[in-house]
Amino acid sequence: MDVIEAIKTRHSYRGEYLPDPVPREDLVTIMEAGLAAPSGCNMQTTSLVAVDDPEMLVKVSEIIGKKVGATAPAMICVLTQRLPSYHGRCFAVQDYSAAIENMLLAIVALGYESCWVEGYVTNPDGKGRQITRLLGVPDEYELVCCLPVGVAKARPIPPKKKDFYERAWFY
Ligand SMILES: Cc1cc2nc3c(=O)[nH]c(=O)nc-3n(C[C@H](O)[C@H](O)[C@H](O)COP(=O)(O)O)c2cc1C
Repeated sequence: MDVIEAIKTRHSYRGEYLPDPVPREDLVTIMEAGLAAPSGCNMQTTSLVAVDDPEMLVKVSEIIGKKVGATAPAMICVLTQRLPSYHGRCFAVQDYSAAIENMLLAIVALGYESCWVEGYVTNPDGKGRQITRLLGVPDEYELVCCLPVGVAKARPIPPKKKDFYERAWFY
C-alpha cells in the first residue's frame, strides 16, 4: 500500500478485534515508523512501549475502561518528555502527534486497524499515570496516547468530513 492509499484508508476503528497476535516484527515496524517522525530540534521527545502480553493488556484496558481497543491483541503506549528546546519552547505535542500519525499509517499499511486514544487516557483522573506505573515506566515520562493494534473484526466507519474547499484554498 502506498502512503496516499494508507492516508485515505485510515479511519478510527472502535470495534472488536480478532484475537490473532500481532507478530513482534510488525510491532517493531510500526514503532520504527513512529520514531522516524520529525521532531522539533530533533529532540526526539517521544518514546514507546508496546504491550502484547495478554494479562498486561487486560490490566491496561481495565484502567482505560472503554470499549475502544479493549479486545486488541496489542497496544502501543505513547510517552512524552516535555523538554524545552528552541528558545525555551517545547515541541513535545507536535513531536508525539507526528509519531502517532506515522504509526497509524504504518498500522493500516500492514493490514491492521487502530484508533488514536488520547482523550480517554489524559483526563485529569490519573489513568495515564496508573498505566505508566503498571508498566514500570519512570515518572519523567508522561503517557499521552494508546494505540490498539490488531486485525479488525469489522470495517471502520468513515466519519463525515467537511468538503475540501471548506478547509483548503489556492491563491
Ligand atoms: C488528539 C486526539 C485525541 C483523540 N482521542 C480519542 C479518544 O480518546 N477516544 C477515541 O475514541 N478517539 C479519539 N480520537 C480519534 C478522533 O475521535 C478521530 O480521529 C476523529 O473522530 C476523526 O475520525 P477519523 O480518525 O476516522 O478520521 C482522538 C484523536 C485525536 C487527534
